[in-house]
Amino acid sequence: MKRGLFISFEGGDGSGKSTQIRKLCDFLSENGYDYILSREPGGTSIGEQIRQIILDPENSEMDYLTEAYLYAASRAQHVSQVIRPALESGKIVVCDRFLDSSIAYQGYARGLGACVEDINSYAVGDCLPDITFLLKVSPETGKARRSSREEDRIENEQLDFHQRVFNGYEKIEENSHGRVIGIDASMDIDTIFGIIRTVIEERL
Ligand code: TYD
Repeated sequence: MKRGLFISFEGGDGSGKSTQIRKLCDFLSENGYDYILSREPGGTSIGEQIRQIILDPENSEMDYLTEAYLYAASRAQHVSQVIRPALESGKIVVCDRFLDSSIAYQGYARGLGACVEDINSYAVGDCLPDITFLLKVSPETGKARRSSREEDRIENEQLDFHQRVFNGYEKIEENSHGRVIGIDASMDIDTIFGIIRTVIEERL
């Protein structure tokens, strides 16, 4: 398929992803690049409805496998309706979380393991990010950064869950053959964005 560039952002809760995504989108706009910004879970009308179910703190009885399938279902819709058509038309796609989130949260932290990749292989096919920025922040710092707002069902989890997410992301980075670029998210905003901009400028 004719391809644009697929960029995803990953990281634990409270890693400062949103700030960096906003800065990247400003940079792309200012330089006249044709891009779309999307997010997971969500990114489509159906995906946003699935998101409500997944993140609702009332759904505390949700089975981990149900959770993994719901993220994958949101992703299947997102890939077919938004991401694949955008890439085929040559656009840059910036996505706030993608498949690596499922591998870190459901695969490593929930302990579902490799079945998460199997489930998702049907949802994504060959539609995978070209570059992934992983913003690394310790679970303690992540929690402190988000303490001012109400937490969703996943953020609500204990610190050891978020530690397993962190460790999972490190493994994903190690096995990614350079696709995943890990960045210490305790650095200041402009230093982090400097790293991201350099990588993107090289690729565009
Ligand atoms: P969101 O409010 O988008 O969190 P953030 O601002 O940190 O990105 O909520 C998404 C939550 O869902 C977040 O805690 C990570 C989790 N998640 C998974 O567990 N698996 C997934 O596949 C995805 C996409 C997200």
